[in-house]
Amino acid sequence: MEKHETRAFFAARAATWDDTFPDDGPAFAGAVAHLELRPGLVALDAGCGTGRAMPLLREHTDRVVGVDLTPGMALKASERGPALIGDASGLPFADATIGAILAAGLIGHLGDPRGTLLEFARVARPGARLALFHPVGRAVLAARRGRELSPDDIRAEHRITPLLQATGWEPVHFHDDDDHYLAVARRAASASGA
Ligand SMILES: C[S@@+](CC[C@H](N)C(=O)[O-])C[C@H]1O[C@@H](n2cnc3c(N)ncnc32)[C@H](O)[C@@H]1O
Repeated sequence: MEKHETRAFFAARAATWDDTFPDDGPAFAGAVAHLELRPGLVALDAGCGTGRAMPLLREHTDRVVGVDLTPGMALKASERGPALIGDASGLPFADATIGAILAAGLIGHLGDPRGTLLEFARVARPGARLALFHPVGRAVLAARRGRELSPDDIRAEHRITPLLQATGWEPVHFHDDDDHYLAVARRAASASGA
């Protein structure tokens, strides 16, 4: 999808987003636990939508910021904390300033996943964790959309693992089952390909 199509798609869903999947909380909490947050670290909720993960992130650090491409989503998120309208592939943060990044339901919507992972690596502090998450696994999501599970899917382990490694991330955990999708990586201490 082009960016304007993504914006239009999510703008139409912003008002009802939180009511659509009300039971995702425990899966989100599990993903947030992998981020190894602590007070003082800045947590970025990339593609934050309505910011439903922001309260969970704030249980671990007082410094949480959301970024979303869709103004209506960022506006809703701003009721939960600081949220900016912006593109995850060009973040308004200085190098090595972000302590953890949650990207929930984001990566499948990116036109340039490699460039966005590089941008995440740029803003992440050495050792920062990145969680690419979805509250259901790829097979459930494909079925929900009436599609076949594609081996070309960027989220498939054989695709996302080398992409993370090539963009400055060390993969530390992968899970893709009906209950959730989660790829966790740590920002490499020294830039390798990033
Ligand atoms: C499936 S929703 C997930 C929202 C939220 N993370 C959640 O789990 O409830 C994907 C979100 O990513 C946003 N998005 C898509 N492409 C983006 C980009 N390049 N930069 C920032 N946000 C983006 C959309 O506007 C949308 O709000």
